[in-house]
Amino acid sequence: MSGDISIANLSKTYKTDEKETVALANFSLEIKKGELITIVGPSGCGKTTILRMIAGLMEPTSGTVTVGGKCCQGPGPDRGMVFQDFALFPWRSVRKNVEFGLEVAGVPKAERRERAERYIKSVGLGGFENAMVHELSGGMKQRVGIARALVTKPDVILMDEPFGALDAQTRNIMQTELLRITDKTDTTVIFVTHSVDEAVYISDRIVVLTKRPAKIKEVIEIPWPHPRDRSSPEFTALRKKILKMLESENIQPDGSTGAVA
Ligand SMILES: Nc1ncnc2c1ncn2[C@@H]1O[C@H](COP(=O)(O)OP(=O)(O)OP(=O)(O)O)[C@@H](O)[C@H]1O
Ligand SMILES: [Mg+2]
Repeated sequence: MSGDISIANLSKTYKTDEKETVALANFSLEIKKGELITIVGPSGCGKTTILRMIAGLMEPTSGTVTVGGKCCQGPGPDRGMVFQDFALFPWRSVRKNVEFGLEVAGVPKAERRERAERYIKSVGLGGFENAMVHELSGGMKQRVGIARALVTKPDVILMDEPFGALDAQTRNIMQTELLRITDKTDTTVIFVTHSVDEAVYISDRIVVLTKRPAKIKEVIEIPWPHPRDRSSPEFTALRKKILKMLESENIQPDGSTGAVA
């Protein structure tokens, strides 16, 4: 189906003048249409690399990604991406950033405007349509990125730590909003996060990765209905179990870990 994703033996080696970095080696994963998958793993293990190859923004060294049975060569309107570092157009207003994908798709101006306004409101930025990017806080920029990715109604949305810059309260609101939007539209979501709490709250499945080059350490299915109770014993127990898995992968030189509760 159009939102099914198949990642087969995907590998990526970055080559610079000084060194080669094997970011990913023979990584495979199957994702079903409409599924919300989160990927958690140590910093630098290859998560962004995986997303960029699914988005078609980068060529794999070997292996394949297919979306809806088709090979992803280059980016396409079937896949929307929310970037870790926002990647907004600084010379465009909020409205013009959100309209970008619709412009590329040739959507007429009036419809473009109407759809952009709807999504700008849905991420809580109503009233900021004409603001320029430099006038926004980090969390607001990230919300523009989310609206920009959702507005084209892609089959697949790839989200790289999309809520990392948000305060705790807005982050919780955005998690609920994401579930509402993607549930209604049957969008496939691949979501990278360092927050285990967030992963347990939103996911149908959590993929826990090892350190670089990322291998699948465990895949955890969460069949619980929404909204989930973050303080329930089973929620807390699962959160602790995943944190432990990450801690064993993730010891920093100073003895701390990169995982966030
Ligand atoms: N363009 C690049 N050129 C060279 N090396 C790169 C490049 N992009 C990423 N890498 C390296 O590939 C590895 C994986 O990077 P990647 O950005 O995929 O990690 P990540 O899991 O997303 O980390 P984080 O959680 O910190 O965002 C890292 O060792 C990184 O240094
Ligand atoms: Mg990353």
